[in-house]
Amino acid sequence: MDAAFQAYRVAEDVYWVGAIDWNVRNFHGYQTGRGTTYNAFLLLSDTVTLIDTVKAPFYDEMMSRIASVIDPAKIEYIVSNHSEMDHSGSLPRTMTAVSPKKVFASKMGQRALANHFHINPESITVVGDGDEIDLGGMKLSFAETRMCHWPDSMVSYLHEREILFSQDAFGMHLAGYERFADEVSREVLDYESAKYYANILLHLSPFIEKTLAKLNDLNLPLSMVAPDHGPIWRTGEDIRRILGEYARWAKQTPTKKAVVVYDTMWGSTDVMARAICEGLSAGGMDVKLMHLQSAHRSDVVTELLQAGALLVGSPTMNNQIFPSVADTMTYLKGLQPRNLVAAAFGSYGWSGEAPKHLTTMLEEMGLNVLTEPLRITYVPDARALGECRQLGQTVAQAVEELLLRGDERE
Ligand code: FEO
Repeated sequence: MDAAFQAYRVAEDVYWVGAIDWNVRNFHGYQTGRGTTYNAFLLLSDTVTLIDTVKAPFYDEMMSRIASVIDPAKIEYIVSNHSEMDHSGSLPRTMTAVSPKKVFASKMGQRALANHFHINPESITVVGDGDEIDLGGMKLSFAETRMCHWPDSMVSYLHEREILFSQDAFGMHLAGYERFADEVSREVLDYESAKYYANILLHLSPFIEKTLAKLNDLNLPLSMVAPDHGPIWRTGEDIRRILGEYARWAKQTPTKKAVVVYDTMWGSTDVMARAICEGLSAGGMDVKLMHLQSAHRSDVVTELLQAGALLVGSPTMNNQIFPSVADTMTYLKGLQPRNLVAAAFGSYGWSGEAPKHLTTMLEEMGLNVLTEPLRITYVPDARALGECRQLGQTVAQAVEELLLRGDERE
C-alpha cells in the first residue's frame, strides 16, 4: 500500500519531503490566515542528503514522504540551514532514526542546535562561506546569511540543478499542494510574500541588503529558489521579481499611503479616525483605516511595508494606552518600520495620557512625528472633527515633502 504522504519531485533526484500545516493561525504573533508549509528537501545523490527538517509534530509526515522514495536509513547527510524549530524540530528524532554520517550547520547553527536540543556540538559539522561538500554526482555549497532570519541562517546551493535552498528568505506562509509559485495566483503571492517580509524580516532589512549583495556577488545561475516556507520560485521572471521585491522592501521607500490604526471605547476615537482619513484623502493620500477589533497587528505591519504615514489612535483607559493599541504598537516597535510620517490622536475623559504615550513610542521608533498629539475631550464636536480633518491634511503635506526630498536625493 502506498504511503499516505508522498514525496514530490521538484527536479531530477530532488524531492520535496516537507509538511503542510493547514491549520496554524498564530506563528509567534503573526496571523497566518492561509496556514503554512515546512519545506524539507531530499537529494538522491550517491550520498543521500536531507536539507532541513520540519516542525516536530510533523515528523511522521516528513518521514512518510521520504520513505515513499527511499529507505530513510540511507540518508547519510543532513544540512540544517536554519535552527529555528519550525525547521529543526524534527532533527533530533531524524538523527536518531537514520544515524547520518554528518549533520552540517553554520558555526552559529552548531551552537543554536546544541542549545535547543542539548546535543553534543561535535555531532554537528560546521560549514561556512564558500565551503563545498561532494555528494557523489552532485555538489552542495554554502553561504552564510546571518540574521536572515537568525544568526545561524545560511543558504545551500545545489550546483548541478542550480537550486538555491534559501531557508526563510523569499518564503511565505501558504499551505497548499502547489509546490511552485507559478501555480499560485499573483495576488496571493504578492500579499503573502510581503506579509512574510513585514512580519519576519522587516527589522532585519540591513541584513537582507547584505544577503542580496552577497548573492549578487556570487552570481549563481538560479533555476530555482526553494525557501523553507511556501512555494518554490522557478521561472526567471518570478526569481527576478522576488529578489527585486526584497531589495525594494529593505529600503522601505515611502509612498503616498497612510495607515490609520486605532481602537475605540465609545466611538469618539473612531469618529476622529474617520475625520482624519477625510483630510488624508483630500491631501491626495491613499488611506487604509484599520480598526483593531477587525484588523490584526500582522496585517497592520504588512500595510506599513509600503506606506508613507502612520497615524495611531487610542482612547485613554486607566491612564494608559488601550490594550489592543498597546499590543500592536509593541509589535510594530520591534519590527522597526522606517521612513514614515507619524502622529497620535485619541479621545479622553479625564487626563488623556494615551496619545502622549503613543507620541513617545512613535518618537522612540525613530519616526518623523509631526505634531503634538491631537487629544479631544469626550465626544468630538464639529470644531474638533475639523481639527482631525486638518491633521490628516497636515500629514499628507508632510508626506508630499518627504517624497520630494527623496526624489531630490536620487
Ligand atoms: Fe521559518 Fe526563522 O524560521
